[in-house]
Amino acid sequence: MEEIKFYYGENIPLELHKVRVVQKLHLVPIERRLKALEEGGFNTFRLTTKDVFLDMLTDSGTNAMSDNQIAAMMQADDAYAGSQSFFKLQKAVEDVLGKKYFLPVHQGRAAENILCHAYIRKGNLIPMNYHFTTTMAHITQYGGRVTELLYDEGFNVDSDYPFKGNMHIEKLEETIKTHGAENIPFIRVEASTNLIGGQPFSIQNLREVRAIADKYNIRLVLDASLLGENAYLIHLREEEFKNCSLGEIIKTMTDLADIVYFSARKLSSSRGGGICTNDHEIYRELEPLIPLFEGFLTYGGISVREIEAMAVGLYETLDETMIRQSPDFIAYLVKSLDDHGVPMVKPAGVLGAHVNAMEICKHIPQNEYPAGALAAALFLVSGIRGMERGTLSNQRDEDGNETLANMELVRLAVPRRVFTLSQIKYVVDRMTWLYENRELIGGLRFVYEPPVLRFFMGGLEPVSDWPQKLMAKFKADFGDSL
Ligand code: F0G
Repeated sequence: MEEIKFYYGENIPLELHKVRVVQKLHLVPIERRLKALEEGGFNTFRLTTKDVFLDMLTDSGTNAMSDNQIAAMMQADDAYAGSQSFFKLQKAVEDVLGKKYFLPVHQGRAAENILCHAYIRKGNLIPMNYHFTTTMAHITQYGGRVTELLYDEGFNVDSDYPFKGNMHIEKLEETIKTHGAENIPFIRVEASTNLIGGQPFSIQNLREVRAIADKYNIRLVLDASLLGENAYLIHLREEEFKNCSLGEIIKTMTDLADIVYFSARKLSSSRGGGICTNDHEIYRELEPLIPLFEGFLTYGGISVREIEAMAVGLYETLDETMIRQSPDFIAYLVKSLDDHGVPMVKPAGVLGAHVNAMEICKHIPQNEYPAGALAAALFLVSGIRGMERGTLSNQRDEDGNETLANMELVRLAVPRRVFTLSQIKYVVDRMTWLYENRELIGGLRFVYEPPVLRFFMGGLEPVSDWPQKLMAKFKADFGDSL
């Protein structure tokens, strides 16, 4: 992959696309932002976009679509059964992911529901590099448990280890020996491990996981939602693959898994999801669950227009100029914030820049949700909406106790080809100011706590009048600037 060098000035990521459709943004005054936080229970999920300036909540369903994707949507074949749009997608899955059997589902967590329904029985254990929120919720819903097997570097936000998403091979084998292979219906590996900062695994590691799966005859499931980005980082960081194309790297990864599933809200920059395999028996086991939970087998609960966009988007995953834009912008954002002393997860991962709230808000106890508080504070001082990824996103244990997260992060998502570099510079500016005023940030407590996936709709309040004090300092420093 070629580098574009600048002759004068700093090296900055260069956009290899042009913007042809735009959406106006609104930066509302800080008083309105405080009101919006109060109305939304200090939970960034509950803000509405009319109050949000830069929406860095997630890349899920928010990546910019290409002209070719939009064009394909216009030609969708509306049919309940046997739609031609489905066959295009099936071919794209085979061409890009190398799997011939494809089951469409309405989004990533629907794939998790199907897999857990088919394979998890009460008392089962699912080893994985790290959980994702919806994955954990489905596994526990069906009576299973999760065990996370990262190497220590994975949890160390300051380590520059290039493959923090690697699964701990010795611990994996120990776990299988202790719990018995018969209690482990599958091993799950997540590409670009989301909750530890979008950190990749190496193919070397995946091969080792595959060898263990073979030795004990356990299925290997790959969550491929962020597959393209993991492949890009393998290209940059794993010697054996430095001259390989994204397509070759992707196929090497998917070949090692028995089942590949994904959220198309991420992979393919569209909306939907899927499960694919080359194993006919697995296909037959999962097939009847699609009409039960999703829709007929040729649409799976997805609009046919999105199916067309998915097919084109999957092929575009092989285009390095598309895949590298977000990780390159993230690397720029992480470096700029790091240069200003803001504690960041390093090396820069994918999906977003991850701010280390455990360090920035070390004066806030974990049961007052330091990452949730930092996300709320950042919105207050900037209109930037990030996402808490820490204790608030965890679920309570069986006895109702808080489970304190290993990391307290605020994720600033950089969806593909959505933001400009000046917007990224604004993020650097406001986040740096907030870091310098971090002592003013206080904790949060629940006023409404839903029993499942509480971070989505939960309502919180500040433990003191810290938001007013932070607003006063903002006004003192910024005058009448928004
Ligand atoms: N797996 C991973 C690794 C994910 O990041 C997500 C979603 C899912 C599964 C579930 O997919 O949302 O289509 O049902 N991640 C989003 C995020 C929600 O913001 O990171 P879904």
